Amino acid sequence: MNKELRQAVIAGNWKMNKTRPEAKALIEELKPIAEKASCGVVICVPFTNLETAVELTKGTNIKVGAENVHFEKSGAFTGEISADMLTEIGVEYVIIGHSERRQYFGETDETVNKRTKAALAAGLKPIVCVGELLWERECNITEEVVARQIKLDLFDVSAEDVKKTIIAYEPVWAIGTGKVATAEQAEEVCKLIRDVLAKLYDKETADAVTIQYGGSMNPKNAAELLAQEDVDGGLIGGASLKAADFGVLLDEASK
Ligand code: PGA
Repeated sequence: MNKELRQAVIAGNWKMNKTRPEAKALIEELKPIAEKASCGVVICVPFTNLETAVELTKGTNIKVGAENVHFEKSGAFTGEISADMLTEIGVEYVIIGHSERRQYFGETDETVNKRTKAALAAGLKPIVCVGELLWERECNITEEVVARQIKLDLFDVSAEDVKKTIIAYEPVWAIGTGKVATAEQAEEVCKLIRDVLAKLYDKETADAVTIQYGGSMNPKNAAELLAQEDVDGGLIGGASLKAADFGVLLDEASK
């Protein structure tokens, strides 16, 4: 990554894992490990663990994120959580448009865009996920798919706001599968995303945006992925559930 222009951020995505006692134990284990990291450290946890995570990480360098947010301020949206509800308890980040939400819960680029704007308006930092399916890569349309997602997901988001946004490039075929993108594949698409941002905004804005890679990043492959010019950290599923593994990724991103 280019450290002069932007900060690397390693964000854990716990997904639907960890009861409250389990979350407490993992966070306590993580605190001394995360302390020495110079990269940004974020843990995105299930809604039921948010308050616990905010309490336990007070005064540390670990920031807390949610895994989704609704775009309306309040109302008849059973099961949803608003941006104000998150900021009020001290949450700072939120994952939006993760492929699991797109795949299983009907998330579309339109709703990703609405959620992103609502999050930004409330002062949350969105981690917007994009990435192609295996079929799309095989059909050679990765560039089109990802460029389209970026344009739609960030529609009407100002340059000032996009600088507060993290983009996570997560090839869907690499998530939770153990199949990791090569460092070249990750760099190619992260660079493409930066080029799209430069066209939509300007170069200075594009250079300021943190673009993560996500998909089976682990202690073994992190160094090579994170050494790429346009890969500014990672969104980490499986390896964020073990403090020691997550610690290795923090060390690599801090180099
Ligand atoms: P993984 O998940 O690291 O387990 O592949 C990444 C993600 O879904 O964000």
